[in-house]
Amino acid sequence: MTVMTANPYENIDITSRSFKADPFPFYAYLRAEAPVFKVNVPYPLKRPVWVISRYDDVLAALKDERFAKDKQNGMTPEQLGKQPYTPAAFKALERTMLDLDAPDHTRLRGLVHKAFTPRLIEQMRERIDRISNELLDEMERKGEANLIRDYALPIPLTIIAEILGIPKEDTHKFHGWAAKLLAIQSPISALLATPSLLIFMRYLRKLFKERRAEPQDDLITALVQAEEAGDKLSENELLAMVVILLIAGHETTVNLIGTGTMELLRHPEQLARLQENPALIKPAVEELLRYVTPIETATERYAREDITIAGTTITKGEMVFAALASANRDENVFSNPDILDITRDPNRHLSFGQGAHYCVGAPLARLEGSIAIHNLVQRFPNLRLATSAEQLVWRKGMTLRGLEALPVKV
Ligand code: HEM
Repeated sequence: MTVMTANPYENIDITSRSFKADPFPFYAYLRAEAPVFKVNVPYPLKRPVWVISRYDDVLAALKDERFAKDKQNGMTPEQLGKQPYTPAAFKALERTMLDLDAPDHTRLRGLVHKAFTPRLIEQMRERIDRISNELLDEMERKGEANLIRDYALPIPLTIIAEILGIPKEDTHKFHGWAAKLLAIQSPISALLATPSLLIFMRYLRKLFKERRAEPQDDLITALVQAEEAGDKLSENELLAMVVILLIAGHETTVNLIGTGTMELLRHPEQLARLQENPALIKPAVEELLRYVTPIETATERYAREDITIAGTTITKGEMVFAALASANRDENVFSNPDILDITRDPNRHLSFGQGAHYCVGAPLARLEGSIAIHNLVQRFPNLRLATSAEQLVWRKGMTLRGLEALPVKV
């Protein structure tokens, strides 16, 4: 007689705060017992999706062209007909490079990737350093801070807004708008977020008009000119491009700096090593990228045909999430994967994804993360949590993993 062991994760909600606090035992279970696993995801997906958990399978899936990013290329007409309701305002934003396949993906990515090369990004070092130090001065005056709101967020938000050319006085509005978009968990919250989104879009359209009339040395001007040139970029694509750069440009790095600092505080011996030897900042940032994995799962992909992975067949049209956070803790690739080791080498983490959609902003994220964490830990040798780790509140939702707030004393 075979004894069936019940799957302890049958009814897991991978978008809940409690799951986000420690998803790693779940992923360890999947890698060992169910490397391609179906979970139910509540709104906005409202459907079962596959989670891929082993490093080699995650890497292969990210590079596999049998997985489409554009749902039109993956889903069957019947599945497309059953999609949850999307308010009209959101439709204009559907054509981002992250939601399209070649050739549209290649065309859109080609318009911006040159603005984010390591050489160009390196020129921002001084600016990032100045912003970071100004924020640290303020923290020093107060003696305490919410590290997310007062430090980890304003650095990437200010920088991406400056790259795009959004006036300084308006940057704070963007996080509010972006946070509302990302917090959509139900049809009601989608409806509630619609007015903010409409204001956001009206604001951007006005800015495009201003840049058309008076070009500046910024990315929005370059994109507006590409749109005017004719066949390179439609009006909706322009809007979607600016929104994705804004969101991807700060909602991710905030978690590298925020969760990364929290993990250093929970591993005082690693923090002390970094404080004693600042040259370790480079491998330390790579290790924090691996250990915290700010984008927990890559964004959704759709099987263009039936695809078998580790003995499980994913049927055409089904939705797949490659769990980067799980791949980054795979014991077959990393020795002692649950140990934070800021000198880890080699460290072939997948935190920026892989393949055609590999993160455009990786050089910027690395630079922001290293300056922010270096300055913070060197300035405040007595930096400590102002609450217990158990009391920290995690943000709900798919894909991103990060804290709502991180109270610290300096
Ligand atoms: C620590 C910070 C960051 C992390 C961990 C991160 C991670 C990622 C990952 C995993 C992907 C691929 C998603 C997928 O394949 O489903 C991605 C794509 C992308 N990232 Fe980042 N990112 C970060 C910062 C940034 C920044 C600062 C920018 C600003 C420009 C940015 C812009 C993008 C864009 C535009 C894409 C889509 C690329 C494409 O579809 O070709 N990211 N990022």
